[in-house]
Amino acid sequence: MNIGIDKISFFTPHLYLDMAELAEARDVDPNKYLIGIGQSKMAVIPPTQDVVSMAANAADKILTPEDKEQIDMILFATESGIDNSKSGAVYLQRLLGFKHQVRVVELKQACYAATAAIHFAHGHIAMNPDSKVLVIGADNARYGLATKGEPTQGGGAVAMLISRNPRILAVQDDATYWAADVMDFWRPLGFDEALVDGKYSTNVYLEFFKHVFKEYQANTGFDVSKFDAMLFHLPYTKEGFKALKIAIEDADPTVAARLTHEFENVRRYSNQIGNLYTGSLYLGLLSLLENSTDLKAGMRLGLYSYGSGAQGEFYSGLLRPGFDQNIEHEAFQKVLDARKQLNVAEYEDVYNSRIKISDKTRKLDISTDPAKFVFAGVEDYQRQYVVK
Ligand code: CAA
Repeated sequence: MNIGIDKISFFTPHLYLDMAELAEARDVDPNKYLIGIGQSKMAVIPPTQDVVSMAANAADKILTPEDKEQIDMILFATESGIDNSKSGAVYLQRLLGFKHQVRVVELKQACYAATAAIHFAHGHIAMNPDSKVLVIGADNARYGLATKGEPTQGGGAVAMLISRNPRILAVQDDATYWAADVMDFWRPLGFDEALVDGKYSTNVYLEFFKHVFKEYQANTGFDVSKFDAMLFHLPYTKEGFKALKIAIEDADPTVAARLTHEFENVRRYSNQIGNLYTGSLYLGLLSLLENSTDLKAGMRLGLYSYGSGAQGEFYSGLLRPGFDQNIEHEAFQKVLDARKQLNVAEYEDVYNSRIKISDKTRKLDISTDPAKFVFAGVEDYQRQYVVK
């Protein structure tokens, strides 16, 4: 039975910062951010969006009443959750009008958890072929102002409907994975911003890729020429490019050229949004589907998922017949082009205005946020969401 991604959609807020302007404000050569890191724009998350509202905005775009009837599990992957106890998924049950006969749970292993969710959904559907599972990857990638991590921020949510006979990608049962307890990136309880050993984290990401890709090739007998495109978790697009270079170092030049060409389509949207943590790998999938002109049904995509702390995984998916029928060329580019640009002072203002853990009751001005689902503040520590 083919099981995999039947529908995919993405949401990022309406605000962005130009990376060249940020570089100038931080007294850095703009080419460090534009070329060295590989980012041209960065999503700015207003206080009126959090992982729940962003997830609702993403999922609302793709789900029909029939899907909602068939979905019996919502797996909410995030590393910027809004509660230590209650899952983001249960808010969606109400906001999106799911039936009550649904399992709701939140998953965490840094940027990796959405990949785990896809595999858990796969197993669930193998046992219950008529079920559908909603997988969310939603995050606000946040580091301190004027820190080294600052240019690798971003945020948004990806929503994926997992089903049998999927219309987009059939997930293959070929994953290789590697876990080790390392301190490359973490966010202690009560901290709003991640702590990171930056250089170390970039090296662990690449080392884990070498482990899982080597084991994948040994297990399957496939070398890199078997792939029509390779996708990577993109904390910033240059990091994925470094992993790609490792994958193709001994490849035939035609294969290397094809994969390098497709990687430009994979990274196009991430280059304009920044890090998304859990959703990043799958934004790359959407970006590839909407921007490549060479994809065909049956082609094999390789996916490298990485979550600091750390877990790495490599697996493949096959494009399904008719996968392109529901994909509109460059559709999300239009959404990105319609965003409002902030200057650095405005971005810092937005950065500092988010609801804090200590805020017991605080109402937010939701009038300037054009999204359908918004976070309106807290009342007696209870989060308030509004559907416009
Ligand atoms: N023109 C062109 N390139 C330039 C340049 C210029 N003027 N100046 C510098 N560069 C290049 C550097 O040569 C370097 O390239 P290489 O990586 O190829 O060597 C690149 O720009 C970055 O420069 P630095 O190494 O000096 O950058 P930095 O010390 O400021 O740190 C960073 C970069 C480590 C990514 C930092 O932004 C950071 O800590 N980010 C957060 C952590 C992160 O994203 N880690 C990724 C792996 S962990 C993960 O994947 C999980 C996750 O999502 C967080």
